[in-house]
Amino acid sequence: MQTIKQYISKHKDRFINELIELLKIPSISADTAYSQDVLNTADAIMSSLKKAGCDIVELCETPGYPIIYGEKIIDKNLPTVLVYGHYDVQPADPIELWTSPPFEPVIKKTEIHPEGAIFARGACDDKGQMYMHVKALEYMTSTGNLPCNVKFMIEGEEEVGSESLAWFVPRNKEKLANDVILISDTGMIANDIPSITTGLRGLSYVEVEITGPNRDLHSGLYGGAVANPINILSKMIASLHDENNHITIPGFYDKVEELSKEERKEMAKAPFSIEAYKDALKIDDVYGENGYTTNERNSIRPTLDVNGIWGGYTGEGAKTVIASKAYAKISMRLVPNQDWKEITELFKTHFENIAPDSVTVKVTPHHGGQGYVTPTNSIGYQAASKAYKETFGVVPIPQRSGGSIPIVALFEEELKSKTILMGFGLNSDAIHSPNEHFGIWNYLKGIETIPYFYKYFTELS
Ligand code: BES
Ligand code: MN
Ligand code: MN
Repeated sequence: MQTIKQYISKHKDRFINELIELLKIPSISADTAYSQDVLNTADAIMSSLKKAGCDIVELCETPGYPIIYGEKIIDKNLPTVLVYGHYDVQPADPIELWTSPPFEPVIKKTEIHPEGAIFARGACDDKGQMYMHVKALEYMTSTGNLPCNVKFMIEGEEEVGSESLAWFVPRNKEKLANDVILISDTGMIANDIPSITTGLRGLSYVEVEITGPNRDLHSGLYGGAVANPINILSKMIASLHDENNHITIPGFYDKVEELSKEERKEMAKAPFSIEAYKDALKIDDVYGENGYTTNERNSIRPTLDVNGIWGGYTGEGAKTVIASKAYAKISMRLVPNQDWKEITELFKTHFENIAPDSVTVKVTPHHGGQGYVTPTNSIGYQAASKAYKETFGVVPIPQRSGGSIPIVALFEEELKSKTILMGFGLNSDAIHSPNEHFGIWNYLKGIETIPYFYKYFTELS
């Protein structure tokens, strides 16, 4: 029987070229100018799943972008793996910082990826990682190595909050019934230090608008006598953290899960070099909440960050003006037990309370979702761990991530199954940034590892 290694060495050029074709379509879900491209990507996913051996492939209409569903059921008595991924990508801006156009994929060697990496928006997040599953399925179906049932659910709105998927899942519980959910949309520590993501942070994303006078004013004639919305907004934002970098919103930490000394000690065992971290980001020092390490700050602790801020004159030269309005987009990363809707309310009330009477405040919630933690003693985790051991030669380290895939908590609530996060990207792959890339080695290693997950999951079930 052909092994996955043999299959990859025979087909790897085609695997790479197929991914490159997929990456050429700018499926930016946030920007309606690209809606036809998002739909075209959905079609491309559909045909790839058919070719890979799914018996049923459907384009499921939703209030938003379609969800692609595929399945291959070999025996109702065998376990079923549900693969989730997303075919939409983040906007490519700032475009001028890309060394090659974001939707013209090229392979370039880097220090971390000496065998080359594909540079394109979506290469790692998530087209490349999602497509590993399509190719692993192709191997399993074409060589008679599929040990259980498989379902695919690939959505096109992950980067904008998965609203349509949240609509779809409760309406299709039977169709989506499964024993485990498998996702490759996270990362690992390093190519020689594989890790399995055991936690994701929740998210609350809000936009704020501060209004002062009813029109823009001459900053000489009025300056000093009326509230300047940009000054006020800056003050308000600055007050959201205290001198220890704790968030000052009343009640914000009430439900935060505090880890035990033992758990924190266990976490600290994961290999991590603060010097390498600083060097990679070209910073002289790290920054964050007092009393916590860098790895804790970006995984088990909640945070609040301004993602964008604007208002007033930002054109060339100088214009003396007090703007009527100022705006900011703010995200809060949440940890298990914090409820994102409750946190959104706490933020809104607090932000309205701290504003002086000289301005009005409008807080508009965008999207959000709950955090997630998955146990390491589940069959799914054990199967994943054995799969990595097989292909990497070492046992992977469990690690909680700072990122969010808000829909994962909903999967557990609605479908009552655990999610296993087998990510093969690296933090240095620049997801959401200019020059996003995905190592060819990582891509092929993912394809190699996935079939072992199916094998061990079926054996352990
Ligand atoms: N794949 C990422 C999330 C991720 C990346 C988790 C790396 C862990 C490690 C996902 O596509 C993403 O970008 N999620 C957004 C949230 C979403 C609601 C826009 C995020 O984390 O900002
Ligand atoms: Mn993603
Ligand atoms: Mn993303």
